[in-house]
Amino acid sequence: MRCGDVEAALEAALTGAAHLAEAEIETPYVEHAYIEPEAGAAWTEGDTLVIRACTQAPVMDRDSTAEVLGLPPERVRVVPAAAGGGFGAKLDLSGQPLIGLVALKTGQPARMVWSRRESMAASTKRHPGQMRGRAGIDAGGRITGLAFDGDFNTGAYSSWGPTVAVRVPVHASGPYLTPNYRAEARAVHTNGPSAGAFRGFGVPQAAILQETLYEDLALAAGIDRLAFRRINALSEGARSTCGQEMRGVGIGACLDALAVPWEAALARAAAVNARGGAIRRGVGVASCWYGCGNTAPANPSTIRVGLTPGGRLRLHQGASDIGQGANTVIAHICADALGLPLAEFEIEGYDTHLTPDCGKTSASRQTVVTGKAAWLAGRALRRAILTRTNMGEGAALALKGARVVVSDGAQRREIDLAALVPDINGYALAAEETYDPPTSPLDENGQGVPCAVYGYGAQMAEVEVGMGLGTVKVRRMTAAHDLGRAINPLLAEGQVEGGIAQGLGMALMEDYVPGRTENLHDYLIPTTGDMPEIETLFIETPDPEGPMGAKGLGEHVLIPTAPAILNAIRDACGARITKLPALPHRVLAAMRGGGKGAS
Ligand code: MOS
Repeated sequence: MRCGDVEAALEAALTGAAHLAEAEIETPYVEHAYIEPEAGAAWTEGDTLVIRACTQAPVMDRDSTAEVLGLPPERVRVVPAAAGGGFGAKLDLSGQPLIGLVALKTGQPARMVWSRRESMAASTKRHPGQMRGRAGIDAGGRITGLAFDGDFNTGAYSSWGPTVAVRVPVHASGPYLTPNYRAEARAVHTNGPSAGAFRGFGVPQAAILQETLYEDLALAAGIDRLAFRRINALSEGARSTCGQEMRGVGIGACLDALAVPWEAALARAAAVNARGGAIRRGVGVASCWYGCGNTAPANPSTIRVGLTPGGRLRLHQGASDIGQGANTVIAHICADALGLPLAEFEIEGYDTHLTPDCGKTSASRQTVVTGKAAWLAGRALRRAILTRTNMGEGAALALKGARVVVSDGAQRREIDLAALVPDINGYALAAEETYDPPTSPLDENGQGVPCAVYGYGAQMAEVEVGMGLGTVKVRRMTAAHDLGRAINPLLAEGQVEGGIAQGLGMALMEDYVPGRTENLHDYLIPTTGDMPEIETLFIETPDPEGPMGAKGLGEHVLIPTAPAILNAIRDACGARITKLPALPHRVLAAMRGGGKGAS
């Protein structure tokens, strides 16, 4: 990606009152470590192969399994099981074709559950990144240019490496106005384990480099580090590095929401540090932005909602719920659009024979893309009911047995559902709508509209560093996220807490060593004992495109965590970490090396 003239901008930063920063950061393989390993069962029903397995992508699974087994896709039926986490790795096939083959060859049901060791050996990982960058500011502290260069180790198979290589340059500026920009990312084949999709598709790695550079610049310019980010935050109507005019931009509001907590955290740290002693406290901040849905390619979702002749309201919801709550959120949106209570809804699916294609549960797209399809389908069914009863838009709907009752105070009309001729799907009244986010392909300079909707966030970390051993304890995270509209605040808060847990692991603990890491005793992920206090602040800057103004949140919440923690470590003890995770020996070496990272 390229916009403006980054070399000229960085050259200018070398002169006058301006500043230039350079950084190199290395990140390791990271394991998803979902609670549920890959598992599934297969059996035949007539000439159809049925597969019930954990997946983020039922239709892709159906098509790929059919291809592997030499079957037409319509002879494979995928019925996703409730998944105990996926985080990206369950976008790829695991045992589906294997159990399918056994079921086809033996005529008997087959099942398979991977052991933790098998799962850790064979599932994809987060791409190790080797990243280099330079950034400059003018005398007023405004970013003049950023140059980013990253190699991402995708291992022996590409998996989602190409997606990482595209998403990283699109997002490597962070949510900051960057007039001059060049970003290049490569997914590189090696003889290592294959890396694939993992919450954020490379953007969490890139954010560490970018936020390290911006920390350098704020410190060099003597500008308060939160204020530095606020000065540079994208504003409403600003152009992104893709040349896209940004709408519904909430990053400024997120940073503003941190202003009071920031001052309080700095005061707490100063109080601890004034006591002297072996523990030093530090505060750090970092931001995120993230486009919801595929980066330019079409990614439609289709939702069907219908009323049976008996008066049951069914929502055909084909978006895999991998624990994030798609079933809840998509039903909420449809209920609001239709104007019938959530409690009336029965969820049909997900099942490739029963639910239209809702694409993959990936790229923080389901609330936005499938949610918008659910909104459109709910509105369409509502319109059909109002038209049939000749009632106005403001009328209230209710279900009474097999009748829909429509009233507006003055009038009350009914539809007898049992009296209507059911459609091909057995519904007396139904609507089906497809939504595909309006994007445009990127040109050779990465200019275009890669995503229709973006979410924003900023997180603040408070950490304590043991000066003797280089140990780090995260005390508190304050997370401000602009999700447009909190459809279900409790689920959204859960996303934030989970994202922070994964980001904390990435910052401080997790390091998958090929050929050696094979269990969760040696591969350490955060436990409740490692988790800090978390305060979540939701900002609702409506997106003009998203359903009810909503934006995605699933991956956003992980992106700022690690850089905020790393910046807090540096604030506490001066250690500028350049190789992750920030294990105690690296923190110690960085402390002693005057900011130089160590392996
Ligand atoms: Mo996720 S990396 O978008 O499956």
